[in-house]
Amino acid sequence: MLAVTQDRIAAAVGRLGAENAFQVLARARALEAKGRRVVHMEIGEPDFDTPQHIKEAAVAALYAGETHYLPSAGLAELRSAVAEYSSRFRRIEPGYSPENVIITPGAKPAIWNTLCALLNPGDEFVYFDPAYPAYASAAGYLQAKVTAIPLREERNWRMDLDELERSVSERTKLLVINSPHNPTGGVLQREDLERIAELAKRFDFLVLADEIYSRNLYLEGEYLSIASLPGMRERTIIVDGFSKAYAMTGWRLGYAIMDEKLANVVTLFNNNTFSCVASFVQRAGIAALHGPDEPVRAMNATFRERRDRIVAGLNAIPHLSCTLPEGAFYAFPNVSRITRDGRKLASFLLDEAGVACTAGAAFGAAGEGYLRFSYAASLEDIDWALSAIAEALPAFRG
Ligand SMILES: Cc1ncc(COP(=O)(O)O)c(C=O)c1O
Repeated sequence: MLAVTQDRIAAAVGRLGAENAFQVLARARALEAKGRRVVHMEIGEPDFDTPQHIKEAAVAALYAGETHYLPSAGLAELRSAVAEYSSRFRRIEPGYSPENVIITPGAKPAIWNTLCALLNPGDEFVYFDPAYPAYASAAGYLQAKVTAIPLREERNWRMDLDELERSVSERTKLLVINSPHNPTGGVLQREDLERIAELAKRFDFLVLADEIYSRNLYLEGEYLSIASLPGMRERTIIVDGFSKAYAMTGWRLGYAIMDEKLANVVTLFNNNTFSCVASFVQRAGIAALHGPDEPVRAMNATFRERRDRIVAGLNAIPHLSCTLPEGAFYAFPNVSRITRDGRKLASFLLDEAGVACTAGAAFGAAGEGYLRFSYAASLEDIDWALSAIAEALPAFRG
């Protein structure tokens, strides 16, 4: 007899979401095990190696005996480095202090623990659709009242701000934004951020700005964080990390920056869940922030070249169209002239073309009729995938 039957599982588990890309990855690996060639465009992780000086810092820390527990908010030197880097990169005045920073094993737990620290059942939480699944999963788990604002392809995947204005009020507690955006590559412009900031101040809500792709930007000019706009420093929680900018997904290192009182509460959640991030991993983070920026720029230049190649290639395939992403490393083509059922098409492309991608609907209802391709693959693989898709598509029956 099974000791763990379904009725023993907590009912709240039914409110959790999950990242579909990991399920596609498992299927793709099973095909590879049978000898099939698969180009991986399902998972959102840079295919580059972590820069050498970052690895060396971790190894040196290990040999120096940095293998013990640390404070739950993070290593003081890393909190300082993050405060200094973020104030400079985002042009924050007055600059952040280390007490504003908490270190987490990736940006994802920073999102989870911050939402745990803020949301009561019934609190109004506003985000956007399509979206990285972690926000709605945490907010749903916490029984917040969740509203999703659809993003518009015709606005190059920026939010419809009139719709946002109709959806927020004095009851809104927290709004999440994510720019550059997963899964579309959309980037909020200055006028978008100014309007969002005005609403946040008018209705007195907080903004969680997921800026994990802030170094993956293809627009001219500097990155603009909502936290740098007048009156927004205290109202904004920045979530960022090392996964995407430094090709460090597997290291599990991220952070959040927020009001000191809130940081103390989120630290309590850190304390209750993972205790602290591994010491040598935090040392690697310091090396990343203090070391040369050139590897980050070089990776981004390569992403940009790949973006141009994949977007042009997708647009050349009959019945597909793809807007030009301005950041992150995702292409989000419209496949609605072929099918509304992106899951079926993604599954067909994996089986028949050997191309692993994710259905847009895995990121929310507004992603229906789209696919997400992570172009963290070589130009050669991208070319191979584009040919394979073009060849296989005519046989697809929606
Ligand atoms: C928008 C967004 N936020 C946060 C994360 C989490 O990143 P990590 O936990 O690896 O730092 C991801 C990862 O895909 C993401 O796409």
